[in-house]
Amino acid sequence: MSRLDLTGRTAIVTGASRGIGLAAAHAIAAAGGNVVLTSRRREAAEAAAAEVRGNALGIAAHVFDEKAAQRCVDATLERFGGIDILVNNVGTDLAYGPVIDQDYASFTKIFGVNLWAPILWTSLATRAWMGEHGGAVVNTASIGGMGFEANRGLYNASKAALIHLTKQLAVELSPRVRVNAVAPGVVRTQRTEALWKQRESQLNSATALSRIGEPEDIGSAIAFLVSDAASWVTGETFVIDGGQRLGDAELFRGGSTVQAR
Ligand SMILES: NC(=O)c1ccc[n+]([C@@H]2O[C@H](COP(=O)([O-])OP(=O)(O)OC[C@H]3O[C@@H](n4cnc5c(N)ncnc54)[C@H](OP(=O)(O)O)[C@@H]3O)[C@@H](O)[C@H]2O)c1
Repeated sequence: MSRLDLTGRTAIVTGASRGIGLAAAHAIAAAGGNVVLTSRRREAAEAAAAEVRGNALGIAAHVFDEKAAQRCVDATLERFGGIDILVNNVGTDLAYGPVIDQDYASFTKIFGVNLWAPILWTSLATRAWMGEHGGAVVNTASIGGMGFEANRGLYNASKAALIHLTKQLAVELSPRVRVNAVAPGVVRTQRTEALWKQRESQLNSATALSRIGEPEDIGSAIAFLVSDAASWVTGETFVIDGGQRLGDAELFRGGSTVQAR
């Protein structure tokens, strides 16, 4: 049997009605896993689950509503009998502008969704199942959490904290539960349209692999990280960005001496 096979495993993927979460749900189901897909809206979660081939269930749960998260964990155990995989995928970047212009409300919103929610869901899944039976967690971070960018400082700080949290949890939950993160570059999803829609060809030329990401690029990496093929990987953040962090590839193609970061 392939070490990528997830037959008999059950995953919860938060924020899976579209974008990267939906692609992760598809990839896990394609590897044989059962999947529970969450979103704030029940119809969206159920429609996404219906689209996934295999055993899938859609559940409405605002990601930092503790009662809804507990209901989701309970429903997963009732339907599938375990929670072997958790993908903490929901993220928000609703705090555009310099960090010093942000207020406490935007701070708590960003850090609530991007940092507290992964702690909450990991805690519930660990207590309910993984702590005793083992499991794998993947947090969706961002390459933004590894550098600096105009106007996205608060979001990037929350993703940097998520990368740190991934290491902390990897140690706290060892050896039974592996905890890793993915750090995507710019990926074609609804949430990030403002980042790529008007300047896709410019981004493509600046990227070593000559294109922005597709949700499936991240989904397949997540399915790898939760599988036995990654059974000796924990606390790591897997950058999937087509080479965007390497610097402006166009400058290199032109023979410039500008150095990559
Ligand atoms: N796209 C990129 O370029 C990119 C790059 C780096 C990192 N990321 C990270 O990747 C993750 C997914 O981003 P995406 O671009 O795929 O987003 P997306 O296309 O907007 O999808 C977001 C998903 O999360 C759900 N959702 C949003 N807020 C929620 C909440 N508070 N509670 C529960 N569900 C919620 C949405 O459904 P409902 O609206 O129905 O709730 C939807 O299913 C995020 O953590 C993001 O920071 C994305």
